[in-house]
Amino acid sequence: MNSDCELIVTKKVEDFIPLFRGIPELGDPVFLSMLHWCGVGKRATELKSWRVYVVRCRDCNVGVSGLYQRPETVSSEIWLGWFGVVAEKRRTGLATWCLQATEKEARRLRATRLLVYCDRTAAGVHRFYTTNRFELIGNADEHFPGATATDKDLIFGKRLAD
Ligand SMILES: CC(C)(COP(=O)(O)OP(=O)(O)OC[C@H]1O[C@@H](n2cnc3c(N)ncnc32)[C@H](O)[C@@H]1OP(=O)(O)O)[C@@H](O)C(=O)NCCC(=O)NCCS
Repeated sequence: MNSDCELIVTKKVEDFIPLFRGIPELGDPVFLSMLHWCGVGKRATELKSWRVYVVRCRDCNVGVSGLYQRPETVSSEIWLGWFGVVAEKRRTGLATWCLQATEKEARRLRATRLLVYCDRTAAGVHRFYTTNRFELIGNADEHFPGATATDKDLIFGKRLAD
């Protein structure tokens, strides 16, 4: 089924709007980021680099993914962000497909470690990352203070093989 999917780069607001309706967990911060991706607004704090991808399956946008580095991020590391798939496509392996495609992009950008932060209460999301061979690194406030939306988040990380 996921052989019909591709990871594409777009800056069209209309490509993202249905995704935000379909992935309510992403919430307002990601919606505001979208305006930045599409050239409408500016972030309060600039990123060193960022890329956003949409998962398109048979002409429908069904997922979003991104990679970014903050000014203090070392060049061998990259963060996964704005990641989700629409509710009706979950538990079909689509997010795993999207994650693997994003990891390929991260390797292409010469990153050797992929990091992601998660709400500490989102047990299903933790399970998704550990199933995909991420390891729990620990609390954001201990390991990467100031790097996440809230210092109460958990950080997961994965070494990217060649
Ligand atoms: C987290 C998310 C991306 C997972 O998407 P998905 O398409 O369901 O993931 P997959 O089908 O590839 O799941 C692969 C495996 O991860 C684990 N998993 C995924 N979601 C899970 C859940 N809610 N509870 C327990 N395990 C889960 C399972 O082991 C699953 O394999 P299985 O279905 O054979 O049991 C999706 O739930 C989502 O978009 N959530 C909202 C946005 C979000 O919270 N993003 C994360 C920001 S850090």
